Amino acid sequence: MNSTQTLIKDLARQYGRDRRNLLPIIQGVVEQENYISEFAMIEIAKELNMPASDVFGTASFYSFLEHRKMGFYVIRVCKTIACAMKGTNQIMHAIEDMLKVKIGETTPDGKFTVLQTNCLGWCHKAPAMLINDEVFTDLSPERVREILGEYMRKNR
Ligand code: FES
Repeated sequence: MNSTQTLIKDLARQYGRDRRNLLPIIQGVVEQENYISEFAMIEIAKELNMPASDVFGTASFYSFLEHRKMGFYVIRVCKTIACAMKGTNQIMHAIEDMLKVKIGETTPDGKFTVLQTNCLGWCHKAPAMLINDEVFTDLSPERVREILGEYMRKNR
């Protein structure tokens, strides 16, 4: 049994092998592995004794559940209007410049993935971004460089 299978078995034991626990189980996998692979979806389906298509359907309904391998840190920069008006573009340039990747890409060391996202609910403190589940607001290119510098120094 590989680590994904063990994880899914543990989650199924923890939440119960019932289809109404599908979402927390999927989320548990994403938390550990940073994304939900096709293999994991099939394993979840087996574990909960339900069609794999139902697992695919649920996973693709939630845009925060990534289907491809993500970096250890996923940066999501808000692109919605309040943030856009306050300089999302400069924030994106600062990030791309520092990490040497474009939106949607992952750094070669697998540490960072850079994405854009819709409103994070921090419009009054725009521009805003998330790094995993931590929110950063009132961003400027200088502030972004500081934040990323700290993350780059972290050993994950
Ligand atoms: Fe960016 Fe709302 S528009 S947080």
